[in-house]
Formats: sequence, C-alpha cells, structure tokens
Amino acid sequence: MATAGGGSGADPGSRGLLRLLSFCVLLAGLCRGNSVERKIYIPLNKTAPCVRLLNATHQIGCQSSISGDTGVIHVVEKEEDLQWVLTDGPNPPYMVLLESKHFTRDLMEKLKGRTSRIAGLAVSLTKPSPASGFSPSVQCPNDGFGVYSNSYGPEFAHCREIQWNSLGNGLAYEDFSFPIFLLEDENETKVIKQWGPSPLSVLSRSQPESEWLSTNLPTMCHAALFTHACCHQHCHLHAAQLHPKHLQHQPRNRL
Ligand SMILES: *[C@@H]1O[C@H](CO)[C@@H](O)[C@H](O)[C@H]1NC(C)=O
Ligand SMILES: *[C@@H]1O[C@H](CO)[C@@H](O)[C@H](O)[C@H]1NC(C)=O
Ligand SMILES: *[C@@H]1O[C@H](CO)[C@@H](O)[C@H](O)[C@H]1NC(C)=O
Repeated sequence: MATAGGGSGADPGSRGLLRLLSFCVLLAGLCRGNSVERKIYIPLNKTAPCVRLLNATHQIGCQSSISGDTGVIHVVEKEEDLQWVLTDGPNPPYMVLLESKHFTRDLMEKLKGRTSRIAGLAVSLTKPSPASGFSPSVQCPNDGFGVYSNSYGPEFAHCREIQWNSLGNGLAYEDFSFPIFLLEDENETKVIKQWGPSPLSVLSRSQPESEWLSTNLPTMCHAALFTHACCHQHCHLHAAQLHPKHLQHQPRNRL
C-alpha cells in the first residue's frame, strides 16, 4: 500500500549520510550563530519608541506584533514618495522611514488607512525643528479635568476662553497598529539609508534576541521573498534591527 513515507525504500547508507550531513549543518549553525547574527543585524542604538498606553476607555499609542515586524525600507523624503508605500509598491509591507518634517496628522491618517501595507514607521529627527512648533498633544490638554472641567467655571471649561495649545494635533492620543520609532541620531539614519531597500525589522518587547532571530529569520525572508531586498539581505547579509532594550527605557521620549 502506498504511504507518505516516500523515503522508506532508500538505501540505509545514503540515509545515514544524510543524517550525518544535517547534524554537521546544525552544529555549524550553533557554533557560528552569534557571528552570523552580528553580520546580519545592526542594532540601532539611539531610538525612542512610541509606546502602548491606555486611557480609561481606549488603547492609544503603538506596539509591535508579538513576533516583531519586518518590512522593506522605503524612504519618504517628499509627500509624493508616499504613493509607493500606499498603493504602487508591489512588495508590501513597507517599513517607512520618514523625515520628521513630514510627521503630520495628515500623513499619519493616510498610513493608518492602509495598515496592511505598513510594517512600521521610523521617523528621523531632522534639524532644525519646525519653526512653527509641534505638539502631539491635543489642543486643550487635560480637557475635562481641573480648571478645564465644567465645575470650575464655564468660561474656563474646554479651553473655551484661551486655546493655549493650538498646534496640538492629537497624534499622541491616536491608536496605531504598527510600531513607530524616532531615530535620534542622524548618523544611524544614514546607515539605514545607504542600504537602499533592504528589510528593516522591529523587535517586540518580550522576545529575547536569540529566540527572535530563530523565529523571524524565515518570516523576514518570507516577507521580502519577492523583492530585491531578500536577495540583498541574503547575498550581502544586510539588515537592521531595532534593539528591544530601548523599548524599556525612555518613555518620556515617546512620540
Ligand atoms: C480615550 O481615548 C479615546 C481615543 O482618543 C477617546 O475617544 C476617549 O474619549 C478617551 N477616554 C477618556 C476617558 O479620556
Ligand atoms: C556623525 O558623524 C560625524 C562624522 O563622522 C560626526 O562628526 C558627528 O559627531 C556624528 N554625529 C553624532 C550625533 O554622533
Ligand atoms: C550601535 O552600537 C553597536 C555597538 O557599539 C555598533 O556595532 C553598531 O554599529 C551601532 N549601530 C549603528 C547603526 O551605528
């Protein structure tokens, strides 16, 4: 009777050889795991993450998925570049590298509308800061509490009299389903840019690096299988990694 065990007829000698061979491959992998990791991944050292927060009723902020997120880097230097990410690019999801001057509510709404094409967002800090100012808070911070509550006085409630944070775009109170990072060091941004479209991965908070590497290497290749990028990564061992350590520090720097 025919079974799935197609190998049952193979001669024992060749099977033994096969076993020995896979053992050698495994051994080689174990011994060189660390140096391979070093060749494939470059940790980004100066990043500040957007974090997941809860208010009384909703979740706000961002987080990466449990197994981390990987996408082909696409640098957005002008608004037109966004079209590639949102509609034209044939190899989503993309890890968008955005200059901070484009980090606006308007653009973020567009990304939010196409989350299946977005693996994550890295915002590079560009200098000088916008002359007009920037505030990710709302236009009336603490609205409904303290002096801004109805009980204090109707003239103060909801910043009716003085709208003192008119630049507030409310981004900090939005919920994003992809990770967002600030790249604080221009030199690190340059390192990413010079690789062109290669995979950029974001580690999730809970996973140890080694485990992440073993579970995500296939995923990473899968995500970038049809692109130049996977060949890029495999042939030249180029990829970047946002380090989990930074997810635990610097909450005050969140976007
Ligand atoms: C929590 O955030 C959501 C989304 O911004 C908002 O609609 C809701 O009113 C907030 N809840 C409270 C209690 O502030
Ligand atoms: C970036 O690199 C340049 C040239 O190597 C160096 O002068 C500069 O201090 C570096 N900037 C940071 C923030 O490390
Ligand atoms: C971060 O620091 C490590 C260790 O010093 C270094 O090897 C790596 O190149 C740095 N990352 C970047 C993007 O410069």
